[in-house]
Amino acid sequence: MKYQLYNVTSKQESLYMPAYNKTKQLLKKLKPEIEKWLKGNVTEKRFKHIERVAKTAKKYAKKMKLDHYKAELSGWLHDCAKDFSNERLMRMARLYRIDLDEVDYINPHILHARVGAIIAKEKFKIKDSEVLGGIRCHTLAEPNMSKLEMVVYLADATEPSRQRQFAAPVRRIFKDKGLEPAVLKAIDNKLLEVLKRRKSIHPLTIKARNWLIEQIEKQIEN
Ligand SMILES: [Fe+2]
Ligand SMILES: [Fe+2]
Repeated sequence: MKYQLYNVTSKQESLYMPAYNKTKQLLKKLKPEIEKWLKGNVTEKRFKHIERVAKTAKKYAKKMKLDHYKAELSGWLHDCAKDFSNERLMRMARLYRIDLDEVDYINPHILHARVGAIIAKEKFKIKDSEVLGGIRCHTLAEPNMSKLEMVVYLADATEPSRQRQFAAPVRRIFKDKGLEPAVLKAIDNKLLEVLKRRKSIHPLTIKARNWLIEQIEKQIEN
């Protein structure tokens, strides 16, 4: 959705009205429902993490002048399937015909992001492609991510309780160099962890990283 500029305002937020009104209303309507559902489907510790990611995504989206209602909504749902069993994740992935790589079979837990987007769509009737994309991409990343999807990825990687040694450099890069270099750094952190643990790398992450490098190089050229 494109946002329109209106030159009436004291509040910065209203600069982007009324294009954000729809998502503002959607968040207002769904938040109590989502919170209630999460309390029955994720652990208390996870719920707190989700709450921090939603808040961080909102903050980052405001900084980037993106629809922060969308970012917050995506944050609220990003880990909705995180506590599903591997069997349930695999069953849903098959049912909804998710394109599975061999790494998904080795580690079905990573499917929680793609299955989470299905829950958001089927259970909460969310149609917005960026809200769904933010949920879907938050673990492995993807090529052609939108800025809002990157904001959710970054919020998950840097919410306040994330380990300082990993999160602090990403936050600094976000502040000094911008969104894409920060997401690249967050991906590199995850990859280093995967390499250290001698786990398989998902091809989506490699494709996302290659795409991001290309985007950053284009930005430097221009
Ligand atoms: Fe997650
Ligand atoms: Fe998360």
